[in-house]
Amino acid sequence: MKLAVAGKGGSGKTSFSGTVARLLARDGRRVIAIDGDSNPNLVVTLGIAPERMHDMPTLPSNLLRRTEEGIELSKTLEEICTSHSLEGPDGVTLLVMAHPQHAGTG
Ligand SMILES: Nc1ncnc2c1ncn2[C@@H]1O[C@H](COP(=O)(O)OP(=O)(O)OP(=O)(O)O)[C@@H](O)[C@H]1O
Ligand SMILES: [Mg+2]
Repeated sequence: MKLAVAGKGGSGKTSFSGTVARLLARDGRRVIAIDGDSNPNLVVTLGIAPERMHDMPTLPSNLLRRTEEGIELSKTLEEICTSHSLEGPDGVTLLVMAHPQHAGTG
């Protein structure tokens, strides 16, 4: 099952996503959570200390490669999770995409 959550700012996307992810993981399902927000805070909702993201490398730009059939991952999901994920207390795997260190000018 793939579940994407999108919507208006401040409408509860992160709270809903974190809660659903944790409940599914507690039920014994394998859950991989991906925070596509450029200011990611799903980590907190999942119960993971945000400082743990600081040591994680950002996903490499060559992760996607173009083939005649379309676009594919250059690594397996297992490889990506090994190097770019954190485990939450309920067993949710958070895939860390980006983690800005501080706000900058827009
Ligand atoms: N069901 C709810 N009832 C009351 N408050 C809620 C509920 N869900 C979320 N909130 C509160 O609303 C605020 C926004 O929630 P949240 O951060 O999950 O929204 P978001 O859609 O992810 O926001 P953003 O667009 O900024 O990423 C938070 O303060 C959160 O605690
Ligand atoms: Mg949010």
